[in-house]
Amino acid sequence: MKQRTAYIKTFGCQMNERDSEIIEQLLSTSGFIPSPDVDNADLIFINTCSIRAKAEHKVYSLLGQLRQYKLRNPKVLIGVAGCVAQQEGEKIFQRMPHVDMVIGTQQIYQIPELIQQLDAGVDRLKPAVRIESSFNIPPFQKQSDFSPSSFPSPSAFKKFVTIMQGCNNYCSYCVVPYTRGNEVSRPVEDILAEIRYMVTKGIYEITLLGQNVNSYGKTNPVADIPVHFAGLLRQVADIPGIKRLRFTTSNPKDLTDELMRCFSEIDTLCPQFHLPVQSGSDHILKLMNRKYTIADYLNKVETLRKYQPAIALSTDIIIGFPGETEEDFEQTMTLLNSVRYHSSFSFKYSDRPGTRSASFSNKVDEEVKSARLACFQSRQDEISLERNREYLKSIVDVIVEGTGKNNLLFGRTPTNHIVHFPPVEETPLKAGDGIKVRITKAGQHSLTGKASGDNDTP
Ligand code: SAH
Ligand code: SF4
Ligand code: F3S
Repeated sequence: MKQRTAYIKTFGCQMNERDSEIIEQLLSTSGFIPSPDVDNADLIFINTCSIRAKAEHKVYSLLGQLRQYKLRNPKVLIGVAGCVAQQEGEKIFQRMPHVDMVIGTQQIYQIPELIQQLDAGVDRLKPAVRIESSFNIPPFQKQSDFSPSSFPSPSAFKKFVTIMQGCNNYCSYCVVPYTRGNEVSRPVEDILAEIRYMVTKGIYEITLLGQNVNSYGKTNPVADIPVHFAGLLRQVADIPGIKRLRFTTSNPKDLTDELMRCFSEIDTLCPQFHLPVQSGSDHILKLMNRKYTIADYLNKVETLRKYQPAIALSTDIIIGFPGETEEDFEQTMTLLNSVRYHSSFSFKYSDRPGTRSASFSNKVDEEVKSARLACFQSRQDEISLERNREYLKSIVDVIVEGTGKNNLLFGRTPTNHIVHFPPVEETPLKAGDGIKVRITKAGQHSLTGKASGDNDTP
């Protein structure tokens, strides 16, 4: 029998990327091989994000396009997973009757069973939904069975490892606690076992993942976890073979001195920190339910830089939160100019179903939000360029990820900057190889250089 092919499209954050890897693995155990694009795929999975209205619209627009595809190929199976699946459930079938499966964020391990049911023709006309909240059953039950997927991975030397799921913070604008459920920390031993196994498969860069890794170990219905995040980080760093360690993402309110100290004490911990601030105004932070002030935040930035002067900071900003005045926005600009982030992700505020701020009355006009966003982003672009110029003439350690435009190789530095450089004739490089590169050009979003061996060897 001809082997069936599957195409997976992933929207959203790294948690979703990691879930898509797990879906890939599950599909390969169900006998599917990857399809590089939608055309000719026997199964199409859309792993969705609901963080802003726009993200959700993208999902519906893609599903709308798939309607014709399904008419032409009635046997193709279409599945929807991720946060929109969790949020919308059955409603997806009402709007998109050509969808066969809707799988909530806690149910991805049921995918093989659902495919079997659909294959067996059980009620083929009735779509399969699994979104019931199983938030109270032990999660991660199968993640420690990690096996390298038969699906090719573009960067086979680095992996995400989920250390917790869900979130209990209920920031007033955020849908994540509703789509991902309560915060649950994964047992230390499972995490270490998964990473040790990955190392035996040639992985040496690990990014620990959670919506708020800083609160790892605080809420834990699964098993006793007598360790906090800094302790976990140290245990992971002690696994022989890990060359680069990163984590994301962190709510500043739970960032401890002990964790910040890790940047001066763990050699393999990369000098990079994503520390979402959301706004530069204490008044807005309060309405957002973020539970820190700008003074707290700036203190932490200073401490981080004391422990690791080379640290590259990035952040997330919401522009135009309900009630944001010109003065509040000016405070966000002041913060940007004082921290001078290497990069930031900024978005216009968007109402999300079920969140508290959706019912706040003093919404900011779309045009005002757009103008403020443009102002913020153009200043960030200038700062990113100035920051990147600081690397000119320096030699950085790059791990190669692949070949990009104009036949240039590209890879990342410990600070997570992308570096492009010409291949080195004498030493052919492949993904995962390390090389020293001297930076010759700095752009807003990346650096360019030359393998330093080229000009440094006598
Ligand atoms: N757990 C992370 C954030 C995860 S969501 C933290 O606490 O910082 C990723 C980013 O999406 C957020 O940092 C925020 O900037 C943005 N975001 C979340 N909800 C949003 C909304 N309703 N409108 C606009 N941006 C939003
Ligand atoms: Fe959302 Fe706040 Fe949780 Fe981050 S910490 S996922 S912004 S509720
Ligand atoms: Fe999006 Fe869900 Fe992640 S809403 S940002 S995919 S947790």
